[in-house]
Amino acid sequence: MLSNQAAESGKRKSLHGHWSSRMAFVLAVTGSAVGLGNVWKFPYVAGQNGGGAFVIVYLLCVVLVGMPVMMSEILIGRRGRRNPVATMALLGEEEGSSKRWQWVGGMGVLAGIMILSFYSVIAGWTLAYIVKSATGVFTGADAATVGAQFDGFVGDWRAVAFCHTLFMGLTIFVVMRGVERGLEQAVRFMVPALLVLMLVLLGYSVTSGHFGEGLSFMFTPDFSKLSWDSVLAAMGQAFFTLSIGMGAIMAYGAYLPEETSIMGASGAVVTADTLIAILAGLVIFPLVFANGLDPADGPGLVFQTLPLALGQMPGGAFFSTLFFILLSFAAWTSALGLMEPAVAWVVERFSKTRAQAAIIIGGMIWLLGFGTVFSFNVLADVSFYKGTIFLNLDHLTNNIMLPLGGLFIAVFAGWIMCRNSTAEELGGAGFFYRIWRLLARFVVPVGILFVFLKAVGLLPDLS
Ligand code: PHE
Repeated sequence: MLSNQAAESGKRKSLHGHWSSRMAFVLAVTGSAVGLGNVWKFPYVAGQNGGGAFVIVYLLCVVLVGMPVMMSEILIGRRGRRNPVATMALLGEEEGSSKRWQWVGGMGVLAGIMILSFYSVIAGWTLAYIVKSATGVFTGADAATVGAQFDGFVGDWRAVAFCHTLFMGLTIFVVMRGVERGLEQAVRFMVPALLVLMLVLLGYSVTSGHFGEGLSFMFTPDFSKLSWDSVLAAMGQAFFTLSIGMGAIMAYGAYLPEETSIMGASGAVVTADTLIAILAGLVIFPLVFANGLDPADGPGLVFQTLPLALGQMPGGAFFSTLFFILLSFAAWTSALGLMEPAVAWVVERFSKTRAQAAIIIGGMIWLLGFGTVFSFNVLADVSFYKGTIFLNLDHLTNNIMLPLGGLFIAVFAGWIMCRNSTAEELGGAGFFYRIWRLLARFVVPVGILFVFLKAVGLLPDLS
């Protein structure tokens, strides 16, 4: 019975349709990976954690943990061809373990909802900054003016709530249209366009006179500055930026044609995502130093450095507008990935249409988003555990739920699924397969557990 089911797995079809080509899949996953995580989050988290050493740990996590987890997610998704909850239940039983693996999918659905609730608010800021840039608010402005603009804007909850509502509306709209018509078309041109604009901005920051300072901040490691909390943050950032650990990539993998190489696709996505994050750092940090700003300034960093720098240059209003348009697009394609596990789950589990599911889930996320909307104004002083509601959501999802999800996904692919199943999905048991399996079975679980235990102080220092 089991072997029969396994043999049939190759013929399973996804309910939601399939990507029209390999390129469409790579673009969709890249679209999900490249987003606010690269351009908004990476620079400020790197800045808050001291730069160089954080960046090195982040890169190590991307290669040693991120890449194998991404491959595991895609292969699980494609084999199950259902939403992450049902896929984990199905494969759990098929591989002779238990249906209970569905809880890993369930945690992913929840993480996606929680992340999008704050992601949408920040994406709303980028929408507002399109208008601010276009109307020339930043032209010739100094650091104090740009800072006051930012504080004034996020301090006004009505304005922030309006933009958050607009962004959720846009997201629900595309999700409703379905896999091929909605998602694919949305990502086709956004990622290349963002890459090109980042290169243009890099040209500007190279000539800012402080490029060397930015470069050395990012790449000169001072490990004495690195606490285990920072290591946890670097690992969380790797998960967040690659969209892994919560089933988004698993859900996208479910729509992947049989013949596509999972290894090749993952390699392309990880490379593109890392490149854009590093580029963002190389654009932002020289500007931070050129303008005497603080790299540890927090979530407002991109919203202050870029408008300021661009406001000084000829055609700045145009480039600033373009930048925030592209960043909004990048956020938009990521938001689709954040919603996909929940939407696919509601469609399959409760027999709803995609449109109904998008509205139900999107509505919940919109409501939850007010926790973050208020974190920067009326509830800015309400502080518990890690700080505001936003900071707690951010910490709980990025640093806890995503790595935990990744841990279970790697253990499932490495230990629960039999060698034949995974080798079949990864195109044979060659050299790279063996490396993947080694990472998934040992490096990922041990690495994640070790960082968790260190960060909560349960492992003593050896020295
Ligand atoms: N990777 C996205 C970013 O960097 C965020 C994201 C996380 C998207 C998880 C989908 C799933 O902005």
